[in-house]
Amino acid sequence: MDSALKRKNVLLGISGSIAAYKAAEIVRLLRKRGAAVYPIMTKAATHFVHPITFQALASQKVTLELFDKNKEMRHLSLPRLADLLLIAPASANVIGKMASGIADEILTTIVLATEAPVVIAPAMDHGMYKSPILQRNISKLKAFGYRFIGPEKGDLASGEVGMGRMTEPSEIVQYLEELIQSRDDFRGKTFLVTAGPTRERLDTVRFFSNYSSGKMGYALAEEGRWRGAKIILVSGPSSLTPPGGVEFYRVESAQEMYDTVMSKFPQVDGVLMAAAVSDYRPARRWQNKIKKESREKLVVELVQNPDILKELGEKKANKILVGFCAETKDLEKEARKKLITKGLDLVVANDVTLEGAGFEVDTNIVTLIDGQGKKEALSRRSKREVAQKVWDKVKQLTEVRKISREMA
Ligand code: C5P
Repeated sequence: MDSALKRKNVLLGISGSIAAYKAAEIVRLLRKRGAAVYPIMTKAATHFVHPITFQALASQKVTLELFDKNKEMRHLSLPRLADLLLIAPASANVIGKMASGIADEILTTIVLATEAPVVIAPAMDHGMYKSPILQRNISKLKAFGYRFIGPEKGDLASGEVGMGRMTEPSEIVQYLEELIQSRDDFRGKTFLVTAGPTRERLDTVRFFSNYSSGKMGYALAEEGRWRGAKIILVSGPSSLTPPGGVEFYRVESAQEMYDTVMSKFPQVDGVLMAAAVSDYRPARRWQNKIKKESREKLVVELVQNPDILKELGEKKANKILVGFCAETKDLEKEARKKLITKGLDLVVANDVTLEGAGFEVDTNIVTLIDGQGKKEALSRRSKREVAQKVWDKVKQLTEVRKISREMA
């Protein structure tokens, strides 16, 4: 079978690290799989390996300067032709610049300009790797959807052993192969994602709501689109900018979310219901602002909203349904209960009392439980990385379903 990298244009950014010599092997392996490789070197990288090495292996001119003598605009042409940008080795300096949007030389300028997936293979001494600033920069880039591979623990140039060794070229190339394939995971499929809180109006200026920011749902929408799905994002009030390329609907109340989701449901292959839908709404809506002078006490009666997911569960047929379960106690028990009562294929459960999990924050700590009761507990990670895991699981579920349908 042909490699997914065949005829793909891979930009290979090489920055200043002793591991630059291993990038030569990466070029060779990529070309063996049929990719065209365009090397880009930072000035520091040229102190480790001469550009001629890369030029010979890639059969391509090596890009070294932002301002080319021939007035070639490589910072514009290369990002456009790229199917993938790999930075290997990526130094702490280059990672820091990328995380801050600095573009003061050719490689980081191309990073900013490209829409292709960016994969980063860090290589540095373990002291630098442990630095909290570097770690924060990595987290920031991951949250934007940049992929990281490695580093690994092993022998370092300093003679010490520690974290910071660049992942082996063969593993990096294998990772790229799988990544390119994953861009087609949901090609031709449509998924509906819900996000954010809902607002339940009390009077003209007040409402009941919750702390949901929409970050988890927006990350799911971005990642789903990244993997080739058509995404319909239905969002309650959120300050986030809707991701590009998704069909976007903004709603306010649970009832509005219900109406929009139900109208789109027939055309989708699955629903990921990350919204924190209000379970109740005020039974009555005051026409004007409630005045405190008029009453000593205010008793508001609340009535239940429709349970959107439960109703989808009853109608689902072959569609994939993913629910979210935010709890403050008995997490697993509640999650398993939801799987059954709402007819879900997967539940993403999180304990919102944990630090670094749940509402408003950029990270989450979740446990995935599927319809067969299989459980996977994930450590704390960015919501974008949680989204990657959720989509991985959706892919698995879709495949299992396809196989069992073919066998029936
Ligand atoms: O029942 P509970 O609110 O704990 O279930 C959470 C899951 O159900 C979430 O996926 C949420 O989006 C969905 N839900 C819903 N309609 C509601 C309440 C929750 O679809 N009224």
